[in-house]
Amino acid sequence: MYELTALKVTDCRRCRLSRSRTQIVNGSGHVGAAVMFTGEAPGKAEDLMGVGFQGQAGKIFDAMLAYLGLRRDQIWLNNAVRCRPLQGQKNRTPRPDEIQACRPWLLQDVDQIAPRLIITLGRISYASVTGHDDFATMRGKLVSVPGLPSVFPLFHPAYLIYRREMRSVMCHDLTALLRYMDEHGIEHSPGQPGLCLS
Ligand code: URA
Repeated sequence: MYELTALKVTDCRRCRLSRSRTQIVNGSGHVGAAVMFTGEAPGKAEDLMGVGFQGQAGKIFDAMLAYLGLRRDQIWLNNAVRCRPLQGQKNRTPRPDEIQACRPWLLQDVDQIAPRLIITLGRISYASVTGHDDFATMRGKLVSVPGLPSVFPLFHPAYLIYRREMRSVMCHDLTALLRYMDEHGIEHSPGQPGLCLS
């Protein structure tokens, strides 16, 4: 079971997403985690379940974690926005004002969990955490941002659903990340090749 803590936002009306959500999808995992993963936004399954990264993207996320020798109950997982952005019946990208409105909750997680490393998943997450727009050049590298723990940007797991050929790039980045974790004494179990076998 995941530990869901006082970091739960129980009500928030800071932006329009509050009007269409089923529930707020708070961060989940281990409050003493050394590593925080930040995604983009909840989708349909997450909005219903209340926990991040379900479904197909969740399976890829879990395979990424397994490669790193980590489990969900050892990390902290959250999103740039905590409520599902909807366009009609479909998911959409969160808008800048929605990301800005949710940022205090993201920073609260950073403050309370105090991770040593933040792994951002996709361009939107990277921009939300760092304020930078250079995802394409910095992906797979360590990024320093004043006032934040070190940031390591990765592709979003959902990107690999449609772009299978990018799995090898993801595996290259995950290997660089594992090296960083080992060099900096960030604990993990032996990784399982899974995602990176082929
Ligand atoms: N995509 C995300 O970025 N976060 C989730 O929680 C689910 C899908």
